[in-house]
Amino acid sequence: MSAPAAGTTPGPSVRPRRLRRTPALRRLVAETSLHPSDLVLPVVVKEGISEPRPVASMPGVVQHTRDSLRRAAVAAVEAGVGGLVLFGVPVEKDAWGSGADDPEGIVQLALADLVAEVGDATVLMTDCCLDEYTDHGHCGLLVADGRGGLVVDNDATVQRYVSAALAQARAGSAVIAPSGMMDGQVGAIRAALDAEGFTDVAVLAYAAKYASAFYGPFRDAAECAPQHGDRSGYQQDPANSDEALREVALDLAEGADMVMVKPALSYLDVVRRVADAVDVPVAAYQVSGEYAMVEAAAANGWVDRDRIIMETLTSVRRAGADIVLTYWADEVARALH
Ligand code: PBG
Repeated sequence: MSAPAAGTTPGPSVRPRRLRRTPALRRLVAETSLHPSDLVLPVVVKEGISEPRPVASMPGVVQHTRDSLRRAAVAAVEAGVGGLVLFGVPVEKDAWGSGADDPEGIVQLALADLVAEVGDATVLMTDCCLDEYTDHGHCGLLVADGRGGLVVDNDATVQRYVSAALAQARAGSAVIAPSGMMDGQVGAIRAALDAEGFTDVAVLAYAAKYASAFYGPFRDAAECAPQHGDRSGYQQDPANSDEALREVALDLAEGADMVMVKPALSYLDVVRRVADAVDVPVAAYQVSGEYAMVEAAAANGWVDRDRIIMETLTSVRRAGADIVLTYWADEVARALH
C-alpha cells in the first residue's frame, strides 16, 4: 500500500499537535512558568561543628556551619532565589526546647549573620517549631495524657512558639514560619509580634502540614526524629483534604500572610484546592523524602535527574503554588538563567 498524498487523507481538522511542533511554539503556549524568585531554599545550620556535614539520606545537602551557611546564602542570592528558610540544630537539647528562643541560640546567631551578609537581597525566613530543640524530638512540650502515655500540650507549646518567634524577629527574621500544627499558633504569634512592634514581620503558616513519611530524611538532617510515638496527634491525616481548607481558613483568620501545603507531590490536589480557595500567596514544600527519592533513583541511573527535577517543580506550580520550597532551589535557579 502506498502512502496517500498529503492533503487528501480525511483527518481531524483540530490538531493540538500544531502547537507542539517546535520549541518556540511550545514556549509560546506554556501555561506554567518557573522563576528563580518562586523558589525558597531550606537550609540547616548546626551548632558546634567546624566543617559542613553531608546528610547521608540527602545527597548534596549539608548541615551548615555558620560560615558555610553565609557562603551558601550569598550563592543563593547570586542565583536569584526568592528566599531562604532557616532551621537550626543545637548541641544541647532538652524537654523544653530551650535553644529555640535563646537569643544566643544557633538559629538566632546564624540569622543575624545572614542579615549582615545579604540583608534584604533575598527573603530571610525562619521555621518556628520545637522539634529540632527537644530531646524527645516532638514539636512541643509533653504532658501526661492521663492514660499512662504522653501527649503534646497544645497551649503550653504555643507559648514556647511565641517566645521562639520573638527571638527570631529580634534576630532579623522577615518571615516567621510556624510549622508545629498547634491550634492557635498563628494568632498567638501574630499578636505577640504586633505587641513588640514587629508589625512588618510576616507569617507564613504551615497551614496544611500532613503526618508524612516523606519527612524521614529531614529528620536525619535536623536530628529530630521523635524518640517515641509519631506526629499524627498534631499533623494532618493524609486521608483528608476538607480539613486542609479548614486549617487554612483558621490560619488566615488568625492573621497568616501566606499559607503552605506540605509535602508537595503527594498533595497536589490539596495545593489546587487551597489555591482556588484563597487570595494570599500559596507555598508548597517539596520535602526531604521527595528530594531523596529522586536523588536515589537518579544515582542508580533509573531516571533522568534534571528532567525529573524540572517536571516535579513545574507540577507543583501548575497545581497552584506561587512559591515552592525545595532543596534544589539554588541549582534550579541557576539552571533557569
Ligand atoms: C518541623 C519540620 C519538619 C520539616 C520541616 N519542619 C519535620 C517534621 O515535621 O517532622 C520537614 C521538612 C522536610 O522533610 O524536608 N519543624
